[in-house]
Amino acid sequence: MAKHQTPLLDQLETGPWPSFVSDIKQEAAHRAANPDGVDYQVPVDCPDDLLGVLELSFKDKETHWKHGGIVGVFGYGGGVIGRYCDQPEMFPGVAHFHTVRLAQPSGKYYTADYLRGIMDIWDMRGSGLTNMHGSTGDIVLLGTTTPQLEEIFFDVTHKMNTDLGGSGGNLRTPADCLGQSRCEFACYDTQDLCHTLTNDYQDELHRPAFPYKFKFKFDGCPNGCVASIARSDFSVIGTWKDDIRIDQDRVKAYVAGEFKPGGGSHSGRDWGKFDIVKEVVDRCPTGCMSYDGAKLSIDNANCTRCMHCINTMPAAVKIGLETGTSILLGAKAPILDGAQMSSLLVPFVVVEKPYDEIKEVIENIWDWWMEEGKNRERVGETMKRLSFQKLLEVTNIKAMPQHVKEPRSNPYIFFKEEEVPGGFAHDEAGYRQRHMR
Ligand code: HEM
Ligand code: HEM
Ligand code: SF4
Ligand code: SF4
Repeated sequence: MAKHQTPLLDQLETGPWPSFVSDIKQEAAHRAANPDGVDYQVPVDCPDDLLGVLELSFKDKETHWKHGGIVGVFGYGGGVIGRYCDQPEMFPGVAHFHTVRLAQPSGKYYTADYLRGIMDIWDMRGSGLTNMHGSTGDIVLLGTTTPQLEEIFFDVTHKMNTDLGGSGGNLRTPADCLGQSRCEFACYDTQDLCHTLTNDYQDELHRPAFPYKFKFKFDGCPNGCVASIARSDFSVIGTWKDDIRIDQDRVKAYVAGEFKPGGGSHSGRDWGKFDIVKEVVDRCPTGCMSYDGAKLSIDNANCTRCMHCINTMPAAVKIGLETGTSILLGAKAPILDGAQMSSLLVPFVVVEKPYDEIKEVIENIWDWWMEEGKNRERVGETMKRLSFQKLLEVTNIKAMPQHVKEPRSNPYIFFKEEEVPGGFAHDEAGYRQRHMR
């Protein structure tokens, strides 16, 4: 018997999509039955009260969580998002409802054993509810009490060899696309780079030392499966610099209809017979491809590596062999001064262990932003305020045409004094000898 009436939420149990309401009810029933005899450390009816407070919010059309919440574990300045219900008497099971961010493995591959181990800890010390995963990447353990935080931290570190994720003005949990583990487009090992940098910068992740949050994300190619260009301050996006590899026999097989375009991704609708000219050659953004009826050619010097031809004919057209990555900087959501996607900073760098070249770029940016960034100013905003030119100076990168989509149209151009013959010191008296008042 459910603890609270939830007529509005009950409607969300209908329809084909997996219902979070049905799942939470199932967990509530499981805790009530407690078939494994778990010694629950937070209220058994925590999931019931979560449904209760959510139903109330559906009715009132407003949230019932109090403002903020500062909790955590000793040694770290982040990792746990504290939260308290504003109706604790009505819903004592969620009076405390803190969220614990756990570091996830790159690419989010798991074994059942590992997940069972985490869930055994969470069953006993938490609500039994999770988010798999948070948008940044973390395993999110949703809902526990303050006294359980150190217990959970002890258990996940000692039993599961797993650390917390990040929160606050620091490096957040890095995330990556699954990369070379199962994608033939991957231009570098996103998982290894993500994992290595996460380990290398543990201090920056656990103890906030930055003006504001800072995120890394790693895409293996410009398709952007982890959306690094939009969702990370420091976006690493794989590419290549030699020629696209073309298998002409397989191109013919696509034209003959033996291979499905796009790996069959449009097979749900009849788009007619594959037309290589219409669907590939004419769609190329730079118009650098041609097909003479038998042979596909690419003028690689004019290819921007957009991925379209490779995405459309993955069996016949492949990324080059001289692979590496681009680095872009500054993506952020709208607050304060408007949304930004990352801007190209390093067009190409080879990705090689131990990743010193990439780390040098990161650390140069941090050295600058940690000193110059204003309180709660994302690096994208620091770039706007202090200029892209300044970013190039602090990272020792020479300005090049690839740094801009278009040159400036306004003439408010700053020159450095040393660039101007005679400097900026003005000789008023000398000027007046030639130009009378
Ligand atoms: C033969 C007459 C004039 C000539 C040849 C002249 C020429 C100029 C020039 C070459 C500039 C600089 C443009 C630049 O920096 O890009 C300028 C700016 C300016 N002139 Fe004149 N001007 C004349 C008359 C006037 C008069 C009569 C006024 C006002 C009553 C005036 C007001 C200004 C102002 C306000 C500026 C802008 C200053 C600034 O933006 O820093 N000018 N003028
Ligand atoms: C209390 C009176 C005034 C105030 C507070 C004021 C304020 C300003 C300010 C803040 C600027 C911008 C400066 C910059 O961008 O660096 C400016 C520019 C300018 N003001 Fe005024 N101003 C006043 C009166 C006047 C008057 C009476 C005139 C002309 C008769 C005038 C003509 C100009 C001009 C031509 C510019 C330059 C515009 C440009 O460079 O595009 N101002 N003023
Ligand atoms: S971003 Fe590219 S390399 Fe990574 S999974 Fe997506 S398509 Fe593959
Ligand atoms: S990757 Fe894009 S730009 Fe390059 S040849 Fe293919 S379609 Fe054209």
